[in-house]
Amino acid sequence: MTLFLAGLLLGLAAAGAAALAWRRRVLEREIGELKRLSEVRREFVANVSHELRTPLASIKAYAETLSQGALEDAENRAGFVAEIEAAADRMANLVDDLLNLAALESGRRPPVFAPLALGKAAAEVVAVLMPLAGRKSVVLRLEPFHDIPPVRADREMVKRVFVNLIENAIKYSGDRGVVRVGAEASGDMVTAWVSDNGPGIPAESLPRLFERFYRVDKARSRELGGTGLGLAIVKHIVDVHGGTASAESVVGEGSTFRFTLPVHRG
Ligand SMILES: Nc1ncnc2c1ncn2[C@@H]1O[C@H](COP(=O)(O)OP(=O)(O)O)[C@@H](O)[C@H]1O
Ligand SMILES: [Mg+2]
Repeated sequence: MTLFLAGLLLGLAAAGAAALAWRRRVLEREIGELKRLSEVRREFVANVSHELRTPLASIKAYAETLSQGALEDAENRAGFVAEIEAAADRMANLVDDLLNLAALESGRRPPVFAPLALGKAAAEVVAVLMPLAGRKSVVLRLEPFHDIPPVRADREMVKRVFVNLIENAIKYSGDRGVVRVGAEASGDMVTAWVSDNGPGIPAESLPRLFERFYRVDKARSRELGGTGLGLAIVKHIVDVHGGTASAESVVGEGSTFRFTLPVHRG
């Protein structure tokens, strides 16, 4: 009898120790995750500050040049003012994208899901971006969206996804580029795609493209008015729709970006 009791007590003690060890591992994991999040936040603030500082430094430098005599320089002053304007535009773009991303992430304005004709949304965006394509001598083509069922999506958000992807394709393709927009349906999902015959993206960059502030070529992105946030916004929107976003590319041949959205059932 005593032996039985002793065994029982030992068993209980062992179970208690195992439960404690388990609890401890859970806590350690949670603390690790919190540390990682605070690191991500710190890095984000550092990135934002750096991105704002670059155009700010440029505005300051040109303003100084003007105030220290270049105002009298009839040949160059207009150019300096144009540089100030361009830098201010870059800052405005960045602040817009940051606010967009913050609004999305806060969940303050949750998506409004409704049946959406994807072809119509794509056509509206293509019409808006046609002038940009024209200025860059890029052919922008919308493929027919036959037999694409309505998707369950927030109309404005999906249009934002198309804008960001098509703008990239136009911007990075340059002269004689051909940008195509289309979609395919399979099962419960619709896959929309934007393809270009631009410079392409090196394989090692593909996994990082959708990170905030990641750019393959920082100087070129800035020059083209980029913020490095466009694809992070795309990914966020596609995620809240329960879809996935991906990129495929061959350097020297072009890139194809795809995102999926669930078919509307109802
Ligand atoms: N169609 C494309 N062709 C080549 N590179 C691209 C394309 N789309 C995106 N990229 C690369 O991915 C980076 C991130 O894109 P994005 O998040 O939209 O930021 P950005 O503001 O720089 O356009 C770009 O800086 C560019 O290097
Ligand atoms: Mg972009």
